[in-house]
Amino acid sequence: MVKARAYGHSLRAALAGLGQTDGFALLDLDDARWLRSQGWDKPILLLEGLFNEDDLNSVIELKCDLVVHCEEQLRWLERQNHPITVFLKLNSGMNRLGFSPDQYRLAYHRLHSAGHRVNHMTHFANADRVDREPSVGSQMECFTQTVEGLKGETSLANSAAVLWHRNALGDWVRPGIMLHGISPTGVYRDIEHAHLKAVMTLTSKIISVQDLKAGDAVGYGSRYRAPKAMRIGIIACGYADGYPRHASDGTPLWVYGPNDKSHGVLCPIAGQVSMDMLTIDLSNAPWATVGSTVELWGKNLAVDDVAGHAQTIGYELVCAIAPRVPVEII
Ligand SMILES: Cc1ncc(COP(=O)(O)O)c(C=O)c1O
Repeated sequence: MVKARAYGHSLRAALAGLGQTDGFALLDLDDARWLRSQGWDKPILLLEGLFNEDDLNSVIELKCDLVVHCEEQLRWLERQNHPITVFLKLNSGMNRLGFSPDQYRLAYHRLHSAGHRVNHMTHFANADRVDREPSVGSQMECFTQTVEGLKGETSLANSAAVLWHRNALGDWVRPGIMLHGISPTGVYRDIEHAHLKAVMTLTSKIISVQDLKAGDAVGYGSRYRAPKAMRIGIIACGYADGYPRHASDGTPLWVYGPNDKSHGVLCPIAGQVSMDMLTIDLSNAPWATVGSTVELWGKNLAVDDVAGHAQTIGYELVCAIAPRVPVEII
């Protein structure tokens, strides 16, 4: 799964790092075109299928496979006699995309009669938790009963299912977030056992240091007020770079050690994140000064730990990295 510019990591990085995969899945024809231009000749699945009938010519030209999830898409493909590989989507309880179990088998036969190769797919709502319905078990049961006796390969599992529901893999797995070393649950500890490491490290530098007296306030709205005399580091990174504006005081950043980036310390955000800057309490890093490197998330600080302080999950933070942030692929 490399939608949303490979979860903010860039398609170029995904192609470099994941070139051994059996196929890529994404949303936009432009991205599919780019992969083909780089010589990628294995499958590309368009995860939300066609957005309009006119795109069929490009789909055929680029040899893309299509998810089919609604009646309109079905009609467009019935009018198309070039055979296309389709993943027909069953709504087995998530109620987002897909045909209901009642409609599914008829949809299958219509596509099949129109000459398309039809595979089966569904998506889990709760593979990352055990306390909610529909459970993986009930969605699996619905899927198995609905596709029984129909030819075609199957695809069910997102990252959480790959990690925790090994009986629900099917023929094609669809991991996304775990490929980037981030937990589907929003808690990095949950994937430590799988030895998945963060792919993205977001760094910046201290561009100024302020010496505050007790009682001085920092930034817009004066949200943070110094309880004692202290040093505040101003970091060149803000919400225009994709850093979450909702990050509360106390959100950690990793400040590199004086000579060695692996021996850094955590320093908390102090003050409202602004467009191009954020401010941290440097009490734990007396050596830090203008030019010191800080890690906003990555190898030393799980993106989920940051996300938790901004009432979100790692997915949202990495996807929101702004185009202006320079990317180095290692
Ligand atoms: C249909 C489908 N399959 C697989 C995935 C991958 O999910 P994850 O990133 O949690 O592995 C997604 C992502 O939302 C999806 O929409």
